[in-house]
Amino acid sequence: MKEKALWGGRFQEAIADVAQRFSSSIALDSKLWREDIRGSIAHARMLGVTGIISKDESAQIISGLEEIARDIESGALKFDNSMEDIHLAIETWLTQKIGVTGGKLHTGRSRNDQVALDERLYLKTAIPDLAAGITHVMDVLLDLAEQHVDAVMPGYTHLQQAQPVLLSHHLMAHLEMLARDRERLDDCFGRTDRSPLGAAAFAGTSHPIDRQFVADELGFDALVENSIDAVSDRAYLIELASVCSIIMMHLSRMAEELVIWSSKEFGFVTMSDRVTTGSSIMPQKKNPDMAELIRGKVGRVYGALVNLLTTMKALPLAYNRDMQEDKQPMFDAVDTTRDSLEMMAFMLSETQFNTDRMREAVMGGELMATEIADYLTRKGLPFREAHHVTGKIVAHANEHGISLASIPLASLKSFSSLIEEDLYDFLDPMRSLREKKSAGSTNPMMIRAAIAAWRGQQSN
Ligand code: ARG
Repeated sequence: MKEKALWGGRFQEAIADVAQRFSSSIALDSKLWREDIRGSIAHARMLGVTGIISKDESAQIISGLEEIARDIESGALKFDNSMEDIHLAIETWLTQKIGVTGGKLHTGRSRNDQVALDERLYLKTAIPDLAAGITHVMDVLLDLAEQHVDAVMPGYTHLQQAQPVLLSHHLMAHLEMLARDRERLDDCFGRTDRSPLGAAAFAGTSHPIDRQFVADELGFDALVENSIDAVSDRAYLIELASVCSIIMMHLSRMAEELVIWSSKEFGFVTMSDRVTTGSSIMPQKKNPDMAELIRGKVGRVYGALVNLLTTMKALPLAYNRDMQEDKQPMFDAVDTTRDSLEMMAFMLSETQFNTDRMREAVMGGELMATEIADYLTRKGLPFREAHHVTGKIVAHANEHGISLASIPLASLKSFSSLIEEDLYDFLDPMRSLREKKSAGSTNPMMIRAAIAAWRGQQSN
């Protein structure tokens, strides 16, 4: 005969195998065993301190739980699919180890507040891990920006060559986006750092429990005060999945640039053999698979966000079993984002930036057109007109298949008598960068200052 479930008192028959298999979450939530045991130890300690159970019972439960932790770690205790979830698995093992006293652990508690607690504890480790992953990518970006502080490259809008910028400026733009993601994580941490334990099923309990004691034991900043809220809400999870989605979106843009830049047509970067793969049929291929995979994994993380939003949509308060489905997207969002950050940091550090090639692209293109328009404007032509005249000059260069800098002065003068020999100085991209005056622009002095400022912040 099958053993009765821990909740089986009112049942005549055991759950059907098919229903047991369908509803078991152990394959996923066993990953929360450390959090579950930590939470139970804090709860057991509180039960002893408040006199709800005796000091001796509390001590027995705690040492039983500690032994279970050691046994899981060593592999002596193994999860199997006949278990319903992590909470029942551990409680069952506890009773097997210490006998009936094990049954006192669940006093004044429910799996509803327990699971919310486990998730919050898990995220309190996961969020700082993700933040550290971001910091790592930022450090690599800072190193690269520093190494290439004066390298010029074509800047793009619509992926068409637009104006010359510093490669370091471009890299620092990615850094600043990631820095805000780190702030978002910090923010989200604050709302996650609240203890739901003691809400019991949802209505609270008549046992004289001390919620604050448990929160303090576990290092929570505060309580989720309202007990119905405490077991019903999963917005902390949705918030994290949305921050992960934003991080992945940012990583995908970096990844996409690495894919484009590593093409023969661009040749702006060369990734090392350690982060690229070959083709089984085309011998010449060196593919940027890691960058493509980061781009591809965004779908999983967005999927996790939509999954959680959809699971929670229109659920009546308080707990509903639907909510068990939150584990898979939670773990997937966290693991995928953490791994992608790690991969991005490594891939960037294994990437060589071909700054000569970038410079050639600047010189061979028409990126200095805006400089010509600005030159004419400074000589008194209204900007709109200067824009128009410059457009004609660009068309002329295109027609003759030459760069702007190689149009002879006489031809230039035929477009505007304001043009003198000194225009050629303005066509030097480095000069145009140095001339930038507005705050945050692609001026090498400003980028140096930005790099130094971020260095200071990063080492704090
Ligand atoms: N495995 C469940 C979950 O992850 C734990 C809570 C179950 N509560 C219940 N009353 N069935 O959501």
